[in-house]
Amino acid sequence: MKVTVVGAGNVGATCADVLAHREIANEVVLVDIKPGFAEGKALDIWQTSPINLYDTRTVGSTDDYSRTAGSDVVVITSGLPRKPGMSRDDLIATNAGIVKSVTENVIRYSPAAKIVVVSNPLDVMTYCAYLTAKVDSSRVFGMAGILDTARYRAFLATELNCSPKDIQAVLMGGHGDTMVPLPRYTTVAGIPVTELIAEDKLNAIVERTKVGGGEIVNLLGTSAWYAPGAAAAQMVEAIVRDQKRIFPVCAWLNGQYGLKDIYLGVPVVLGKNGIEKIIELQLNEAEMNLLHNSAKAVKEVMHVLDQMNAVKA
Ligand code: NAI
Ligand code: 2OP
Repeated sequence: MKVTVVGAGNVGATCADVLAHREIANEVVLVDIKPGFAEGKALDIWQTSPINLYDTRTVGSTDDYSRTAGSDVVVITSGLPRKPGMSRDDLIATNAGIVKSVTENVIRYSPAAKIVVVSNPLDVMTYCAYLTAKVDSSRVFGMAGILDTARYRAFLATELNCSPKDIQAVLMGGHGDTMVPLPRYTTVAGIPVTELIAEDKLNAIVERTKVGGGEIVNLLGTSAWYAPGAAAAQMVEAIVRDQKRIFPVCAWLNGQYGLKDIYLGVPVVLGKNGIEKIIELQLNEAEMNLLHNSAKAVKEVMHVLDQMNAVKA
């Protein structure tokens, strides 16, 4: 199995490192536009192989996509974080330009690849890659839900002083403040979380999760990378090992949950064909309202992209 990671920055290099270290692929190709950057990161990762005892080949390339040819999965992490003085629309335009050109190159050299988008704003960049790739939506999807759910699970594990391994949860909606953590679908070793934690504490954790990305930005001055990189690698693993894992993934909806023509986080089955099934939970009225509220926010940003005509040929 061959996996390409585009963008050798914080998230991309972390993802490549996890893919190599855990032997999720035979070959990992790291691509970046900055001269020598991907080559340097790939070489550094490869030099951990005798220490960490794995044999996944890791190579780097400066914008030469011929090196990525025949990739089974491609992870797109290239893009800028928002900078001071940059409007949201500026960020969308800049990152859409990057995601579009990267996707064109990816599809040219790996026409059968599954594409996992990580670049922000996530739901809209996934839409951008889908419009550009012109392949079935089961093959183009975004990483956010695993990360947001991991944050929620980590906060719960700290509060309950239990192992994060025992916490199962699902979180839906867009990758932003309107995301929808679902306490009703959260269990600790099979026990409903509501039996283990007071309502006010659970609500505080839900609210902290919604701004979990911003919490890290405030601490570090840039966005997170360990958890995002590991989350993207977990999606790649489910695909290359055909694990049929159930994860929250940013997927194209075509009527599910009463929503159409939108990329939004929902639980899916992830296997060798990409998204093999979208799972429709029996949400109650309050949960459904929150999901639709989140969809409205995502649609507004998708509309900004549509208005820019940034993706049209
Ligand atoms: P970074 O700045 O460390 O790395 C981005 C890399 O992309 C840089 O090395 C840059 O040279 C490269 N790049 C820019 N244009 C390129 C092009 N046309 N072709 C190839 N490479 C190109 O940023 P970081 O922290 O790795 O974040 C990457 C993206 O992921 C950002 O948009 C960030 O907001 C997003 N992100 C998304 C998360 C999610 O949950 N979906 C979580 C964390 C970050
Ligand atoms: C995160 O959630 C900023 O999307 C980035 O860490």
